[in-house]
Amino acid sequence: MAAPALRLEPAPPVLEARRLTLDYATDRGPVRAVEAVDLSVDAGERLVLLGPSGCGKSSILKALAGFLPATSGTILVRGRPVSGPGPDRIVVFQEFDQLLPWKTVRDNVAFPLRVARKVSRAEARDRAEAALARVGLTRALDAFPHALSGGMKQRAAIARALATEPDVLLMDEPFAALDALTRRQLQEDLLALAEELRFTLVFVTHAIDEAVLIGTRLHLLSPHPGRTLAMRDTAHLGLAEVGSAAFEELTREVHTLLFGSTRGHV
Ligand SMILES: Nc1ncnc2c1ncn2[C@@H]1O[C@H](COP(=O)(O)OP(=O)(O)O)[C@@H](O)[C@H]1O
Ligand SMILES: [Mg+2]
Repeated sequence: MAAPALRLEPAPPVLEARRLTLDYATDRGPVRAVEAVDLSVDAGERLVLLGPSGCGKSSILKALAGFLPATSGTILVRGRPVSGPGPDRIVVFQEFDQLLPWKTVRDNVAFPLRVARKVSRAEARDRAEAALARVGLTRALDAFPHALSGGMKQRAAIARALATEPDVLLMDEPFAALDALTRRQLQEDLLALAEELRFTLVFVTHAIDEAVLIGTRLHLLSPHPGRTLAMRDTAHLGLAEVGSAAFEELTREVHTLLFGSTRGHV
């Protein structure tokens, strides 16, 4: 028998949604939040979901995380359909209360490693300390969450997520509740971490400048119910390009696509 021809199959996307439609049950019947959205994220990409408040960004992220069942459509991780949460997808939320208040920062990061990754107590501790060092929280290892600023809480949540080494990191407006200076610092630090660790990211925001800065690709969503409006490649626009003509032009174009006018801001 002849040897089978060697064929190199392209690796499946890390995360994929096909024709994702999401309804909520309400007293007055189902409310459609998201309609027939396709998305696909390759290893090392940073996909940003961008759209106005209420367009279904959080719903998409929750569905990708496995917390919200799809009304129709499919979600795949590395080509495998998934229907519930798993340690391959970890979410960082906007809210500052994601940490367990009765555990130290170190134990907050170590705990999911023990549960989800089943590593030993000593290894969980080492990995937690390494992850917290990466986000600049070494001095807060023994602190309890109530003693942290909002920015430090979000850093701890990012460390906790990264320590589990998910296939894809999901972030839902993680910096939206921070003051402007802290937000910019965390954006810069997230980009530096992405540069270093090359993780795969789906990042939700309603802020156009944040989307252009963080993303390698933008997925624009229409107002309620969320449908795909446009895609834009933004891998060439990072920190060094902030304020440049190219950055400003894309920001204006995205604003026009979302709001039909270049006047005013969200
Ligand atoms: N639990 C819920 N029950 C009913 N409707 C909901 C629920 N959660 C969200 N929605 C509706 O779904 C739409 C999308 O919400 P969401 O995904 O939170 O949007 P975004 O994150 O873009 O602001 C909104 O119109 C919202 O009112
Ligand atoms: Mg939201």
